[in-house]
Amino acid sequence: MRVLVTGGAGFIGSHLVDALMKSGYEVRVVDNLSQGRIENISRWMGRPGFEFIKGDVTDEDLMREAAKSCDAVFHLAANPEVRLGDPRIHYKGNVHATYVVLEAMRANDVRKIVFTSSSTVYGEARIMPTPEDYSPLLPISMYGACKLASEALITGYCMMYDMGAVILRLANIVGSRAQHGVIVDFIRKLRSNPRRLEVLGDGEQTKSYLLVEDCVEAILRAFENLDSGVEIYNIGSEDAINVKTIARIVIEELGLEDVEIVYTGGIEGRGWRGDVRRMLLDISKIKNLGWRPRHNSAESVRLATRVLKEEL
Ligand SMILES: NC(=O)c1ccc[n+]([C@@H]2O[C@H](COP(=O)([O-])OP(=O)(O)OC[C@H]3O[C@@H](n4cnc5c(N)ncnc54)[C@H](O)[C@@H]3O)[C@@H](O)[C@H]2O)c1
Repeated sequence: MRVLVTGGAGFIGSHLVDALMKSGYEVRVVDNLSQGRIENISRWMGRPGFEFIKGDVTDEDLMREAAKSCDAVFHLAANPEVRLGDPRIHYKGNVHATYVVLEAMRANDVRKIVFTSSSTVYGEARIMPTPEDYSPLLPISMYGACKLASEALITGYCMMYDMGAVILRLANIVGSRAQHGVIVDFIRKLRSNPRRLEVLGDGEQTKSYLLVEDCVEAILRAFENLDSGVEIYNIGSEDAINVKTIARIVIEELGLEDVEIVYTGGIEGRGWRGDVRRMLLDISKIKNLGWRPRHNSAESVRLATRVLKEEL
């Protein structure tokens, strides 16, 4: 089976590529290397069954070529920065990109897509843990809005052109090769000043964190169960922790003491405009496929910190 992975040189994408190659899939990666790094996939370069195309997923001609003779597409390429202020960048890099991917699939009769959506589509959900059928979906950021719009495009293509889709609403994914997110941010800040840590918001933002290896297993489990139609799965751990706890774990793992923690307060305690304050996903549906997270949120953050402090 040949699969196309967009964003395959990125954080989650490169771990997915590792798992797919080890499982015997032929893998073609399209990545513009805007955030991703060639080192993440260098072990596969030149190996039979692996192909890397440096290019942009919004390039229609390139994507039509890239999707040729593929059986499925894992669409991960996106601008994953929730904080980014410019809606045009989100729209082009997330919604338009998804449309181009779907058109390339339609042109090549590729019938299966796996899409990495996000917990941010729920906005500030009133029900916790939040199940997949929660409504109304009212995202509070452009990132979340564009993920939701992409989900809708995928659903429309599936119904109109006999495609099957797995939509994965991911919690916060952490681990080796990450280049953004709260742990990376804290490690970088503490390296430049080990006596003081600035925390965005009031530190009470409470969310679910999952190790990337667990996440990739869940992605593959959902893909293996994909038949036709659209299935949506939440992917996360079973609990949530707040940013204060993450700060404490990172400080401990870096072996620091007497660090002054300064909270910016933010807007209503949020780290930035569009930051969801509480997120915990109901993961019963993916668990019914036999997948379980190996670690809770605190363990995931601790293990991620241990590898990232060596890598960064
Ligand atoms: N990391 C998380 O916590 C998290 C949570 C929810 C959803 N997601 C989603 O998972 C996916 C992967 O995220 P990640 O954390 O690995 O981020 P990442 O930035 O490491 O990976 C994205 C990859 O896509 C590439 N890319 C971006 N725009 C592109 C374009 N126009 N053309 C070609 N390549 C492009 C980047 O170079 C990068 O390699 C994204 O869709 C993201 O929105 C991530």
